[in-house]
Amino acid sequence: MAGRLDGKIALITGIGSGMGREAALRFLREGAKVVGCDIKEEGIAETVRLGREAGGEIDGFAPVNLSDAAAAEKWVEDAAAVFGGVDILYNNASHPVFGPIDEMPVETWDYGIANELNLVFYTTRTAWKYLKRSGGVVVNIGSIAGTRGVEFMPQNVHGTAKAGVINLTQQLAVEGAPHKIRAVAVSPGFIVTPATAWLVDNGDDAFKSNIARIPLGRPGAPEDVVSAAVFLASDEAAWITGVNLVVDGGGTVLG
Ligand SMILES: NC(=O)c1ccc[n+]([C@@H]2O[C@H](COP(=O)([O-])OP(=O)(O)OC[C@H]3O[C@@H](n4cnc5c(N)ncnc54)[C@H](O)[C@@H]3O)[C@@H](O)[C@H]2O)c1
Repeated sequence: MAGRLDGKIALITGIGSGMGREAALRFLREGAKVVGCDIKEEGIAETVRLGREAGGEIDGFAPVNLSDAAAAEKWVEDAAAVFGGVDILYNNASHPVFGPIDEMPVETWDYGIANELNLVFYTTRTAWKYLKRSGGVVVNIGSIAGTRGVEFMPQNVHGTAKAGVINLTQQLAVEGAPHKIRAVAVSPGFIVTPATAWLVDNGDDAFKSNIARIPLGRPGAPEDVVSAAVFLASDEAAWITGVNLVVDGGGTVLG
């Protein structure tokens, strides 16, 4: 059976953990060649090992700090050289920070914007010329926090950065269309990953009631998000651009 991403070259950020690792391994199973990166070395080595063990063509670069514009540019150039181009740029990596607005140091705010929003700009601006050649796709990971308030953990800078990612996706859809480039966002609700698992047992009452209200009755898993990304990155979604696909078990339809 043919894979849904057969022959496509996918650059995926943050493949050392969570949804990034899941994306790398699933994209390989769907026939893509994958080049990833992460700021952490140990996680990425494991993802590359798992991918190769399963017979996939995958390479990974680490440590790469994508909040540094020059480092992001170098990774995209190095990654594009591995298999000869870019068909899919999957901006998954982020490092969110949380805290009440009146206790938020300016440096922490700037860090959040740099590590959740600026890094998407840095990789995309460099990959654009390759995407123009391939008529490729940008898949950006947003968040439900990017379009609404969230009751648990003060998410001011996280939500602001993800709102930026979602709007940037719309702008990229418009700028990209004349070049046959599509741009899409996937916005997860609460997903259990190494970054969030602690909340399942230790979240406060606001968190627990938020999870209890999810209509489909459970928190998300990385594959829930990655399945949406596979569809949007594939040619099945050839006439879909600029969307923000919410993957949250229905949590946000409750208002
Ligand atoms: N888990 C959730 O509930 C949830 C909900 C909404 C959105 N998201 C978003 O989904 C994406 C993946 O989240 P996750 O839960 O898998 O997180 P994670 O922390 O498990 O994985 C993120 C990876 O990105 C890497 N990374 C972070 N900053 C980086 C940088 N500056 N340069 C290079 N690599 C960097 C990390 O080292 C890590 O391996 C993120 O964009 C996150 O904001 C997650």
